[in-house]
Amino acid sequence: MASDAMQAHQVWDTDRYQNQHDFVWQYGTALLDLLKVKPGDRILDLGCGTGELTHALAETGAIVSGIDADADMIAVAQQQYPQLSFGVADARTFTLEQAVDGIFSNAVLHWVKPPEQVVQRVANGLKPGGQFVAEFGGRGNVQKIVEAVETVRQRKNLNSWYFPSVGDYAHLLETYGLEVSFAALIDRPTLLKDGDCGLANWLRMFGGQLFVGLSSDDVDIVISGVESLLRSHLYDGSQWHADYRRLRVVAVKR
Ligand code: BEZ
Repeated sequence: MASDAMQAHQVWDTDRYQNQHDFVWQYGTALLDLLKVKPGDRILDLGCGTGELTHALAETGAIVSGIDADADMIAVAQQQYPQLSFGVADARTFTLEQAVDGIFSNAVLHWVKPPEQVVQRVANGLKPGGQFVAEFGGRGNVQKIVEAVETVRQRKNLNSWYFPSVGDYAHLLETYGLEVSFAALIDRPTLLKDGDCGLANWLRMFGGQLFVGLSSDDVDIVISGVESLLRSHLYDGSQWHADYRRLRVVAVKR
């Protein structure tokens, strides 16, 4: 999912997203069970990316549509799953023709600020009794990686992702009339594909905001420095593991 405000420095390469970072949607399959879907329910996949989880939701018998702010992602989703309905829309401003029974969102909401606008749209889009199931980066997510970049760059506050605590996000949901039935912050070290290149790939795919103002040669130098700093923490001798922490929530519109 790409949101205009957050994505000024983020370019989505759909091939690399699908080939090297398919764990993003694969981890999301665990989330599907939290959405109690009955056949015929209308479900929105908010920030559907290339559509794999939208498709998995449709397999449960739901009537599913997916939206994402990135037109390239949506083009790939539509090509992969022509039978499903996809559209380009921003999580902060989307509107639906009719309210839905569930809104699902995996690994998206840390990209989208301000979060109040997203939660307001979610609340507007749900029927009373409708469920919101989401997982994204929570407080402390990829902290070692961010701190290593800050150390190498000798800069502070490079992280502009939104990684809230359970308390902060539960409060936000309640403010917009969503009753929280489950919320947890979960450490989930995440294997990065491609052996020794895994961390560099991840930083190049997702870390645009950490490198603002640097030439591509300087980005290479920073990445090497970050690898050296983190090798004893996040490298197991053959693969890198990113220090992901997920915020997982289930909430119901009252
Ligand atoms: C995440 O899924 O936690 C994430 C992905 C890219 C950048 C930052 C966080």
